Amino acid sequence: MHIHSRIADLRSALQGCGRIVFVPTMGNLHAGHISLMEQARAHGDTVVASIFVNRLQFGPNEDFDKYPRTFEADCARLTAAGVDVLFAPTESDLYPEPQEYHVEPPGIQNILDGEFRPGHFRGVATVVTKLFNCVQPQVALFGKKDYQQLMVIRNMTRQLALPIKIVGGETVRADDGLALSSRNGYLSPAERAEAPRLYRLLQEIRSAILAGNRDYAGLERKALDELAAAGWKSDYVAVRQQSDLSLPQTANAPLVVLAASRLGATRLIDNIEI
Ligand code: PAF
Repeated sequence: MHIHSRIADLRSALQGCGRIVFVPTMGNLHAGHISLMEQARAHGDTVVASIFVNRLQFGPNEDFDKYPRTFEADCARLTAAGVDVLFAPTESDLYPEPQEYHVEPPGIQNILDGEFRPGHFRGVATVVTKLFNCVQPQVALFGKKDYQQLMVIRNMTRQLALPIKIVGGETVRADDGLALSSRNGYLSPAERAEAPRLYRLLQEIRSAILAGNRDYAGLERKALDELAAAGWKSDYVAVRQQSDLSLPQTANAPLVVLAASRLGATRLIDNIEI
């Protein structure tokens, strides 16, 4: 695997590399990321990963400084997964001057996770656009675990006519159902044992809806109550339309249930499509 930190070096290394498939990450890689790298291979000739912990998408009270940086271990995993090129810029490589121009997503950036993480999706959209410009891929893969992020990036790519196909990868879970996430490492053993409750509740909502229950608000409330009783502090549990994450309006529109909740100091998100 070739590693580049400078944009100019990356660009010249990727010349003549055929169809480029890109998987951006913030590192601290787990099996979910590696599954995206493996899927990437089927979409083109050269698989490029990036590792960059993007300051722009963290709020002032979020975990930018303590976000786990595990570069050596990440490189070993990427090499084993057959990734061809790693783009690992430093902050001064990617932001050599203060980033004053931003990509501003529309209203979707203010709902669900956006309501609780102001500026987050603007930071994501800006860095992803910049990474796209550095790598110039034909295909890019993002995990469905960050469902709203995937939607922001899909819509942005379409509306800005970026010539990139966006592919969503299925969420990879531990045996007990917990969605893999770099933030799972923050959980204490007791919190880790409790954490699968979030996905269990999403599964219960899905089963209830498939059985004909249309009292979405009631289902959300019940899940929030159960989380609170088990010591969680929830931001939301929400049944939404898959198409635009708006409230369910049309009968039979494909739905998704999304949740964000805090266990101790760790904020977990998850979702399930219906
Ligand atoms: O999902 C992530 O790891 C990040 O939000 C991304 C897409 C790499 C942008 O920093």
